[in-house]
Amino acid sequence: MVAVGSSLLPLFLYSLLPLTLALDVFLFENCTQGTNFTASSTYQANLNSIVSQLSSLTEFNNGFYNLSTGTSPDNVNAIALCTADRTRDQCISCVNYTITELRGACPWNKEAIAWSEFCMVKYANRNLFGNLENDPRKCAPSPTFAMNPDQFNAAVSQLMNKLNINATAGDPRKYASGQTKSGFDTVYGSVQCTPDLDDESCGSCLNISTTELLNCCSGKIGCRVLSPNCMLRFESNPFENEAPEPPGPPPTPTHSPTGKGKRNNSNTTRIVIIVIVSVVGSVIVLSICIFSRRRNSLVKARTVDGITGVESLQFNFDAVQNATDNFSESNKLGAGGFGAVYKIQLSE
Ligand SMILES: *[C@@H]1O[C@H](CO)[C@@H](O)[C@H](O)[C@H]1NC(C)=O
Ligand SMILES: *[C@@H]1O[C@H](CO)[C@@H](O)[C@H](O)[C@H]1NC(C)=O
Ligand SMILES: *[C@@H]1O[C@H](CO)[C@@H](O)[C@H](O)[C@H]1NC(C)=O
Ligand SMILES: *[C@@H]1O[C@H](CO)[C@@H](O)[C@H](O)[C@H]1NC(C)=O
Ligand SMILES: *[C@@H]1O[C@H](CO)[C@@H](O)[C@H](O)[C@H]1NC(C)=O
Ligand SMILES: *[C@@H]1O[C@H](CO)[C@@H](O)[C@H](O)[C@H]1NC(C)=O
Repeated sequence: MVAVGSSLLPLFLYSLLPLTLALDVFLFENCTQGTNFTASSTYQANLNSIVSQLSSLTEFNNGFYNLSTGTSPDNVNAIALCTADRTRDQCISCVNYTITELRGACPWNKEAIAWSEFCMVKYANRNLFGNLENDPRKCAPSPTFAMNPDQFNAAVSQLMNKLNINATAGDPRKYASGQTKSGFDTVYGSVQCTPDLDDESCGSCLNISTTELLNCCSGKIGCRVLSPNCMLRFESNPFENEAPEPPGPPPTPTHSPTGKGKRNNSNTTRIVIIVIVSVVGSVIVLSICIFSRRRNSLVKARTVDGITGVESLQFNFDAVQNATDNFSESNKLGAGGFGAVYKIQLSE
């Protein structure tokens, strides 16, 4: 059995997410307390209507949706925003997935919000459109520190300030992404506001979230700050799809010669599959990634095998359940903000 040092785990747990470009991963929800509705109420009927609309979107609308139904006091309003690198189908799929999970997680709350890897969904019994809200806010730092934290922080701060200026002025999307150097490292960043905000509100949302990001992620190699009206993120590896609205089918993954050669030539290389099991309500979400045994090839494996592996592997829940020995404790590596993590091994 391949030993996976637990020191690798937090890094891996975090860096798995950027790799699963094709998968929606549910991150966080917040059910606003003290806002319950009752079964068979008008509010429930209106909310069900919103949920069914969000589950069956067809328009792209630049990845932003503003829905409302019902009349006061039972009116339900909702907004949804996809990350700017999503295609229409990816966005619609993320919103459907996220609203479904959120309803399961907050069954009786009039108001709730959730963030997934690629989108945010919020609904409430009040107008949301055009109203800046900075709470609830969630900070999700990578556990890994940069080699040179001070230098890295300075680079992040500078990048975020530039991106904030560009995103604030953005139209129709309030979005900007870019990169900068910190010594030998590159920092990739992206920031985005809901496009219903005016420039000043977007700037204010980004400023508040940037301040939080620089505090809670100080010296870390990656981070995101999620709030109802803006999302900020930086990583030390690229995490976005390149084309925001590709007209054709998605690019087919190809092995780089280096990655392929390495795997084929080394029969000491084993493959470990890390399975993150996130249980939200009764729904189980699996995301899967691969890396090779040797630590010095971890980066290569992550960027080469990780992406292509995810694309080419198909695991159903039963297979994963078997492989983790019914999610046994002995196969459990730990648990993090994104769910429990298990290891399973395949022979090559
Ligand atoms: C709301 O519902 C939750 C879960 O059913 C319950 O624990 C809580 O007491 C309720 N709160 C109010 C104010 O009714
Ligand atoms: C929305 O998600 C549900 C549950 O995952 C799925 O059954 C349904 O087909 C999806 N609807 C659309 C329009 O994709
Ligand atoms: C958003 O929803 C609100 C509430 O229904 C509505 O007044 C407003 O016109 C909508 N805005 C857009 C751009 O759809
Ligand atoms: C949900 O958000 C509220 C503030 O908006 C916060 O006080 C509360 O702690 C959050 N709940 C969770 C579980 O994070
Ligand atoms: C901001 O926008 C300007 C003008 O479009 C562009 O030249 C610059 O590269 C952008 N900077 C970033 C960090 O996106
Ligand atoms: C955001 O912060 C920058 C510098 O910290 C400041 O110049 C700018 O006015 C702020 N923008 C808003 C909308 O608060």
